[in-house]
Amino acid sequence: MKPAKDNASTLSAGEFAEREFPMTDADFEEIRKVAYKITGISLSDHKKNMVYGRLARRLRQLNIATFAGYCREISSKDSPELPNFVNAITTNLTSFFREFHHFQYLKSTIFPNLIKQNAASKRIRIWSAGCSTGEEAYSIAMVVKTFQQLNSWDLKILATDLDSNVVDTGRRAIYASDRGEKVPAEFSKYIVEDSRNNTVSIKPEVASLVTFKQLNLLHSWPMKGPFDVIFCRNVVIYFDAPTQTKLFDRYADILRPDGHLFIGHSENLHNISDRFQSQGRTIYQRAS
Ligand SMILES: C[S@@+](CC[C@H](N)C(=O)[O-])C[C@H]1O[C@@H](n2cnc3c(N)ncnc32)[C@H](O)[C@@H]1O
Repeated sequence: MKPAKDNASTLSAGEFAEREFPMTDADFEEIRKVAYKITGISLSDHKKNMVYGRLARRLRQLNIATFAGYCREISSKDSPELPNFVNAITTNLTSFFREFHHFQYLKSTIFPNLIKQNAASKRIRIWSAGCSTGEEAYSIAMVVKTFQQLNSWDLKILATDLDSNVVDTGRRAIYASDRGEKVPAEFSKYIVEDSRNNTVSIKPEVASLVTFKQLNLLHSWPMKGPFDVIFCRNVVIYFDAPTQTKLFDRYADILRPDGHLFIGHSENLHNISDRFQSQGRTIYQRAS
């Protein structure tokens, strides 16, 4: 199980020079450039310490003495180090039922409406874009399971992330017990505790609703859609405005006309996209 990576605090340039591996401003600039080009993630100066900590492990493993050497390693587009670089640079913080009101809205409004609107096709498609280790997608699946009539529907949840490690963790559907504590009592029947290994696993009837795939959101998407619901929460916070605008335009295109988009609590579409109408509390509906 991969613990979620989170942000760290700031160190001055002087402190960087004294550390195990020297990292100059030029090295950080190069790392920033490669990260932006591949992932869309904009690394601001105050992420220097975080970047140092995450990549120092790679330098140790590769037996590289300086960040300048590591920058040479990642400079070619075919470098075998690039997937490790990307996995190290992404921030994967997530939890079951994070921003619980989104799941309440799914249960109270979205699924009851979809059951009526899609009654003829009995088809529902949901996408957890930037799914990290899968807790978001499985939380959606647990809400689905509370609607018995959906058992006979063609309902699929796609969970994608750029980071191959987190996608593997999601696919395994096994988590440390303390992560399982975030599952509210009303949904705990969908997980199984294993006290010997201190883990919880997702019950197969829930896990089977979710398909994990590695996907870079900046690249072309193999799916045709249309999706009824897209969750893209706490992902674009790391992107600059032009990258966000392009991405939300593509989400609008792949959503069905009145489909819903859920974004993170600190994100909004103001000055980014006019293709969605706010339903309040970071829930949007496609408008055009
Ligand atoms: C903080 S996590 C959010 C997880 C979950 N959506 C949530 O809100 O709990 C952000 C995720 O976005 C992924 N990510 C960042 N850039 C990406 C990109 N260009 N394509 C796909 N996923 C990306 C990261 O790997 C990371 O797992």
